[in-house]
Amino acid sequence: MKTIRCAFFVLALLVFASLTAVAEEGVGILAQITDPQLGFNDFESERNRFHNTVNIVNDQNFQCAVICGDLVHNCYNKEHLEAFKQELSRLKKPYFLVRGNHDDEKLFRENFGPTYYAADLPFKGFRLIVLDTNLWTPKLLPDAEKMEAMLLEELQKAKAAGQKVIIAGHCPIFEKHFNEEKWHNNFTMEKREWMAKLFDEFPVVAYFSGHSHTTFTWLWHGVLLSNSETTSVAFDKINYGFRKFIFEDGAIQFFTALVPTTK
Ligand SMILES: [Fe+2]
Repeated sequence: MKTIRCAFFVLALLVFASLTAVAEEGVGILAQITDPQLGFNDFESERNRFHNTVNIVNDQNFQCAVICGDLVHNCYNKEHLEAFKQELSRLKKPYFLVRGNHDDEKLFRENFGPTYYAADLPFKGFRLIVLDTNLWTPKLLPDAEKMEAMLLEELQKAKAAGQKVIIAGHCPIFEKHFNEEKWHNNFTMEKREWMAKLFDEFPVVAYFSGHSHTTFTWLWHGVLLSNSETTSVAFDKINYGFRKFIFEDGAIQFFTALVPTTK
């Protein structure tokens, strides 16, 4: 009887431990791709580079990809939108799409799903929150409140679950300085301050963005702000490419993956 009681106690302890355990951190390998924007300058070249990007993500050890918006330059051009969808359909890894300012809201929903949402990443302990920054910039739109409520709720849930959070949007929070003037590429000062408070309170590790077609990286309120290389038009003349992120043991490492134009 004593043995049975003891076994029951051990079993109960194991069940309790499994219910309360925080997800172990493993290695997470993710591609941050921004502004494929097929048709921006030279449709064929931009399609080729997105094609090659998909090949690299498929061939290497990526676990997923986050595409930070502006999927095509003119989303009402059916040929270009279909070309993007065709290339995307070749991607064999899970992917998460962000809506850019060139992506019509209705068309985005019809073709790809919700414009703001959250999902577990395919590696332990990480949650992705995708924002539709069109609701914040260049001006505040009515649906923004719903998205803000989602963001807050998801951050609270991730914190309670012991998850780390990556947030992805199209527009960067700021480009050159957190105090810079508001223009169509960045957040209002009010939203910048709000994000800083959220970064201080919740376990956000990275914010991914694109839109400006320039490459930069900041560490701000403990969060890595990554505006990666693009595969369409690089205003800063930095090479065409995307970023390979590795999350391991609480550290973040990233490299630029260069993307050739020819197939
Ligand atoms: Fe954009």
